[in-house]
Amino acid sequence: MCGIVGYVGGRDAIEVLMGGLRRLEYRGYDSAGVAVIADDGRLATHKRAGKLGVLEADLVAEPLPEGGTGIGHTRWATHGGPTDVNAHPHLGDDGRLALIHNGIIENYAVLRDELLAEGHTFASETDTEVAAKLVGREYAATGDLVSAFRAVVGRLHGAFTLLAVHADEPGLVVGARRNSPLVVGLGDGEQFLGSDVAAFVQYTRRALAIGQDQIVAIRAGGIELTDFAGRPVEGEPYEVAWDASAADKGGWSSFMAKEISEEPEAIEQTLLERVVDGVVVLDEIAEGFPADVLSAVTRIVVLGAGTAAYSGLLGKYAIEKWAKVPVEVELAHEFRYRDPVLDASTLVVSISQSGETMDTLMAVKYASERGARTLSICNTQGATIARESDAVLYTRAGPEVAVASTKAFTAQVVALYLLGLHLARVRGALTDDEIRGLTDELRALPAKLRTVLQTGPEIRELARSMSDTRSVLFLGRHVGYPVALEGALKLKELAYIHAEGFAAGELKHGPIALIEPGQRVFVVVPSPRDSTSLHPKVVSNIQEIRARGAHVLAIAEAGDVAVLPHADEVLRIPLAAPMFEPLLAVAPLQIFAMELAAAKGLDVDQPRNLAKSVTVE
Ligand code: G6P
Repeated sequence: MCGIVGYVGGRDAIEVLMGGLRRLEYRGYDSAGVAVIADDGRLATHKRAGKLGVLEADLVAEPLPEGGTGIGHTRWATHGGPTDVNAHPHLGDDGRLALIHNGIIENYAVLRDELLAEGHTFASETDTEVAAKLVGREYAATGDLVSAFRAVVGRLHGAFTLLAVHADEPGLVVGARRNSPLVVGLGDGEQFLGSDVAAFVQYTRRALAIGQDQIVAIRAGGIELTDFAGRPVEGEPYEVAWDASAADKGGWSSFMAKEISEEPEAIEQTLLERVVDGVVVLDEIAEGFPADVLSAVTRIVVLGAGTAAYSGLLGKYAIEKWAKVPVEVELAHEFRYRDPVLDASTLVVSISQSGETMDTLMAVKYASERGARTLSICNTQGATIARESDAVLYTRAGPEVAVASTKAFTAQVVALYLLGLHLARVRGALTDDEIRGLTDELRALPAKLRTVLQTGPEIRELARSMSDTRSVLFLGRHVGYPVALEGALKLKELAYIHAEGFAAGELKHGPIALIEPGQRVFVVVPSPRDSTSLHPKVVSNIQEIRARGAHVLAIAEAGDVAVLPHADEVLRIPLAAPMFEPLLAVAPLQIFAMELAAAKGLDVDQPRNLAKSVTVE
């Protein structure tokens, strides 16, 4: 949600800002705008409802004057619809100050009344304009943008990243953040700000994450970082692990197609140096979670939203089986509002691709305040959730741009499996040989997944044949159940088709009433090779729905012939140990959703109404 870019340096700011906004498009937005301090000292702004192309066309037809200082914004509407007027930047100090914002200022109504009483007028319906007017008012009094920020940010409640420029201070962009992301890109004679590193990684890979309640001032020659009270703060610079090309489509029809193709590599990277001689080595969490602390954990609570929460469900099956610790999985946005029982022996594991999801961030903070220990599984270096947690286990899926998560999900599941095996060793729940057998299986997964991805054309044909389908159900049992949930979520998100995932055992308790002739049902079929397998039960479930006219699309292991007489279509996956089957079975469902959306002519990477980084509650 809301992309933010700031620039000071020798380049044409508009070019840098528009490029940065393009790379942040994936976050989801419905209007965009820029402001630049022109070389002649004027503040020039332009903003438009709609996609970036609309703004871009205007800027080509009527270019803004050139300058090396500017801010740019993509807005995901919260207060007031997606109109030209509500788009950012908003102005203060008689049009001499421009400000952009991500987040929600919860006390904006009170502040607005205060300003109205002083005679200020508002052009938009946004909470942001209140901040612009407040900072503008303080600037008029102090003549200093940093001081003006300091006077205002402490008065704002809620979540915000704010950036502003002032015509009287060319060569300066000031930013502040609370509960919303902001990263500095450290250049040579130029500096950048962004909601995330994608905004500037084509210019520099040296980054510095701004901490909670901090103000940053960037000038061509360097940056100054303070807390809200003005005390200097040391930042922690880091090197971005990927380069700009990783966030390009690279010849693929969509980012999503590219990202699905990268799933095997996401697994390899997430395993890299974490499995040594069959032993799981998680050095990066050793400081926050030494062996004695992990041994003393009595309960694990896994938190996430959307796809991340479904990866958590898979983690539950694995961690309970291997490490013998009770695991609960909860949607982050439900968690902190129900007074959950937490103590120092509870390990709270949060899962987030972006590391910025507000629901998850707030749940993590809540858990910390209640004395629980927090570990995050995160895909974005230096993200807020990672920083707020006692330790972080990074997934290494690389940048995920398509709104619907694919390779990050796969990497999250692998990270959870690593955590489960690590816990199992530390707590003596599995023998070294058992762990070695499981890590061997894990390491064999990328090759198997590559063969699944080769079935893409077959899945595309299937999807095309179903492009006018209005409802699809997904069934699975045991670890096939989260796969069914994720398959349904992908189809809803991408193809706008009514889709539900069910535990197959629950069928007879309600969902079977939905079955009528022609109803399409995907069924994730477990391997028949394991004597404890639920294979016969799932086949029975298939027979029950088939008897009522369902059209069954089975995802089944290669060589499973028992399923053949009962399914209308069978998509094959290679043989794997039961716990690892989901990592193979989910890919056909991701491809199916993507291809069906494409067949319907929809935007696969940016589905309607959705945002990739959901930074509001
Ligand atoms: C949004 C995205 C989903 C994602 C969820 C959690 O809803 O559209 O694809 O699964 O947020 O995001 P996170 O970054 O916390 O994993």
